[in-house]
Amino acid sequence: MLAPLALDFSRRAQLVEMMEQPCSYEELRACLRDIARVDRLTFAHRPTLSWLDALIASAPKLERPLRVVDVGCGDGDMLRRIDAWGAKRGVAVALTGIDLNPNAIRAAKEATPSGERIEWIVGDALADAAGEVDVVVSSLLTHHLTDTQIVQFIRWMEKSALRGWFINDLHRRPVPYHLFRLWTRFTNWHPFVKNDGPVSIRRSFVVEDWQRLCASAGLATQFVTIREYRPARLCVGRVK
Ligand SMILES: C[S@@+](CC[C@H](N)C(=O)[O-])C[C@H]1O[C@@H](n2cnc3c(N)ncnc32)[C@H](O)[C@@H]1O
Repeated sequence: MLAPLALDFSRRAQLVEMMEQPCSYEELRACLRDIARVDRLTFAHRPTLSWLDALIASAPKLERPLRVVDVGCGDGDMLRRIDAWGAKRGVAVALTGIDLNPNAIRAAKEATPSGERIEWIVGDALADAAGEVDVVVSSLLTHHLTDTQIVQFIRWMEKSALRGWFINDLHRRPVPYHLFRLWTRFTNWHPFVKNDGPVSIRRSFVVEDWQRLCASAGLATQFVTIREYRPARLCVGRVK
């Protein structure tokens, strides 16, 4: 059944996702792999990679590898993309993935061929210090956080990232919500993904949310770029 078209998209929905509940390693890994599959089909890596392109074009070349941390890395697909991006662009990178869930880190290690040197760490973005890095990125992380935690996360990135940070998350709009529900009826994706995709969209953001959250973190709007990337992403970039 399609959800009623009159759902309230005016504010972030207070809903829980299935993947936030305790589950087995196999279940989480299958779920993260299907999220990565959806990401590929919806070109969800592009905003982060284009932002990195703009970042290196706008700053002097480093004499050492660009240190990139991906927070809430899941099974690590984004970092493997960034590794390939660095190789293609001739940019040396030092990559670290952080995730709260030890099983996500286990899945990331398992999915990463030994040739790709990426450090994987179990950690909480809101509690653990990352030390100084050049860039912090995240994808599909922030809609799991409360507004208060997001403000804390923005402050943490602002302090930790020497060159900038990039949040890649969903756009809270009815069109991607309903399209995703319709599309997944014809797939055999993991039930968590079928359920959590639309829930994630309802928990996600519109431009005004990001303006308010950045302002609460002490960042005026002119210091960040908030941009929609169709079909379903709304991203926030900060270049220092
Ligand atoms: C929807 S998954 C996204 C995975 C991956 N980034 C992607 O785009 O496919 C969200 C991930 O964020 C992690 N996460 C949630 N809260 C976190 C926190 N406070 N610190 C670090 N990771 C967190 C979860 O464990 C989960 O693996």
